[in-house]
Amino acid sequence: MSHKHMIWCDARTLSKNITGKVYIVTGANSGVGLETTRQLIKQGGHVVMACRRIEAAQKEAKSFIHLEGSYEIMKCDLANLESVREFALSFLQKYNRLDGLMCNAGMVVMDNKQKFTDDGFELTFGVNFLGHFFLTELLLECLKQTEGARMGILSSVVHAGSTKNRYKVHLDDLNFERRKYSNFAAYGEAKVASVLYAKELSERLQNYDVFTASIHPGWARSNFGSGGNFFMRALMTIAKPFTRGISNSNWESAQTSLHVLLSDNAIHHSGDYFSQHSVLYSDKECKKGGWPMKSPNPNANDMVEAWKLVEKSYELVGLK
Ligand SMILES: NC(=O)c1ccc[n+]([C@@H]2O[C@H](COP(=O)([O-])OP(=O)(O)OC[C@H]3O[C@@H](n4cnc5c(N)ncnc54)[C@H](OP(=O)(O)O)[C@@H]3O)[C@@H](O)[C@H]2O)c1
Repeated sequence: MSHKHMIWCDARTLSKNITGKVYIVTGANSGVGLETTRQLIKQGGHVVMACRRIEAAQKEAKSFIHLEGSYEIMKCDLANLESVREFALSFLQKYNRLDGLMCNAGMVVMDNKQKFTDDGFELTFGVNFLGHFFLTELLLECLKQTEGARMGILSSVVHAGSTKNRYKVHLDDLNFERRKYSNFAAYGEAKVASVLYAKELSERLQNYDVFTASIHPGWARSNFGSGGNFFMRALMTIAKPFTRGISNSNWESAQTSLHVLLSDNAIHHSGDYFSQHSVLYSDKECKKGGWPMKSPNPNANDMVEAWKLVEKSYELVGLK
């Protein structure tokens, strides 16, 4: 069931012939990433599915068989910087263009027990933001050399926080060593970082033909949050039918990513935040979403914080 405030791609966007164009979608084997991938292939594109579980991607990709375009599955575990580097190098050896990079993969720790990436970063920040940052920076020259290239990164309504508690990226304590760990704060902060990065990158690339955006896909009935302990899994299963009226199918949730990658209109708003409607915004005026809309969180609109984040991230991934 779609919500009355649902924002849809226009027919022109979803019927463009993109034959010959090359896309990367991270987390392409599930949920929003899978439907984004399916539509790009349907429109004739070639999608490199960057996934941590190759078998899961192979299983889903069987359903692409009759579609116009093509795909390749390549391993990329965003919780391991070496895996991200290997993926980027293999991609650059094979392809000389990148029309669209969709940094879609994401996760939240469901049991509120702090976890780390293989490189020792808090897992939520590491996967949702830092792995994507590293990937994007490694592919930047290729994006710059491709006419009309686009890059999107998935944020979330959660980044907005509430009027009383606006999330901000704690660059001085990314691993929660000096404050109590909270899985939701870790997720909210990682998603603030995603909004800031799209802004910074757009500014940095203003002399190039590269468009960037951050995205809230709406409340997707995907596999998101399906991890965790038995209690959490049972709770999610029980809650699902009751949230149908206010949540979206994965196809509906892929609309914002597809708009960012394909629409003629989106490119006039580089660096901006594109949000599907969401009942979860605590700021009433944001609930309808917008393509684009201004984040209600001042910390996600602060360019000084964006520059600091990028400077620190370069250091963390060893690019400086
Ligand atoms: N669902 C929502 O309501 C919602 C709302 C706001 C924002 N979002 C964002 O939307 C994006 C897509 O989420 P979704 O709803 O489609 O969830 P999903 O169905 O759980 O898909 C998430 C994808 O990310 C992949 N992933 C997780 N950890 C990874 C890692 N270490 N390396 C590489 N890939 C990894 C997953 O791979 P596996 O299959 O191997 O786990 C999966 O392919 C995420 O960034 C999420 O934060 C979702």
